[in-house]
Amino acid sequence: MPRCCRRPPKPTPEDPDMSHEKIETNVGWMAILIAVAISFGGLAEIIPLMYQAETVQPLPGVKPYGPLELAGRDVYVREGCYNCHSQMVRTLRHETERYGHYSLAGESVYDRPFQWGSKRTGPDLARVGGRYSDDWHRVHLMNPRDVVPVSNMPAYPWLAETPVDPAAVAANMRALQRLGDPYTDEEIDGAAAVVTGKSELDALVAYLQGLGKNAPKG
Ligand code: HEC
Repeated sequence: MPRCCRRPPKPTPEDPDMSHEKIETNVGWMAILIAVAISFGGLAEIIPLMYQAETVQPLPGVKPYGPLELAGRDVYVREGCYNCHSQMVRTLRHETERYGHYSLAGESVYDRPFQWGSKRTGPDLARVGGRYSDDWHRVHLMNPRDVVPVSNMPAYPWLAETPVDPAAVAANMRALQRLGDPYTDEEIDGAAAVVTGKSELDALVAYLQGLGKNAPKG
């Protein structure tokens, strides 16, 4: 007789009521009990999260971006710098030797959206803050070939001529405050004064110079 059609085995002294056999041969019960078993696993993962105000806490020193850095971050996103640059140092030896401490979630709690990425035509930028002078960044962004002759990074000369829009920065901060970023109303009211007269190049350099400044050392 083919295997499928054999009679179920008879009760044995080890399993006299054959409860296993009953469940395993009844697809309805089997499905219900599998769902129950999996939901226990899910609940064990989900319930603790509900009792935490925020799942990821900012690292010490990590604060929401100041007005100029925030404007620079918008330029970074708008210009698509993330198409060639990640901002996430992986936990691999060759990465930490090159860039510094690997990235931690608590560094990017105020990044909406975060810029981790994995595309690296250019180097990772998570730790670039302070590596070069402001002047180096200016020259590099105006024309990368002036400081790195073999660079294939595009030039962004228009940033120097485009002023930051103060009203947009304040509105951006207001929106982030509504999402839970701890900006005070005074900071938002004072934002326009901070960015007035600054170019998008100034803002982008300020943003780049802040990257990784609160990263763990080592
Ligand atoms: C087409 C790919 C590409 C794009 C887009 C791009 N970059 Fe680059 N970037 C590179 C490459 C390649 C290098 C390495 C050569 C060099 O330093 O110019 C680099 C280097 C850099 C460096 C120096 C990093 C270091 O550690 O030496 C910075 C800072 C930088 N880019 C910022 C930016 C910013 C800001 C933008 C957006 C405005 C941007 N890049 C857009 C390819 C790109």
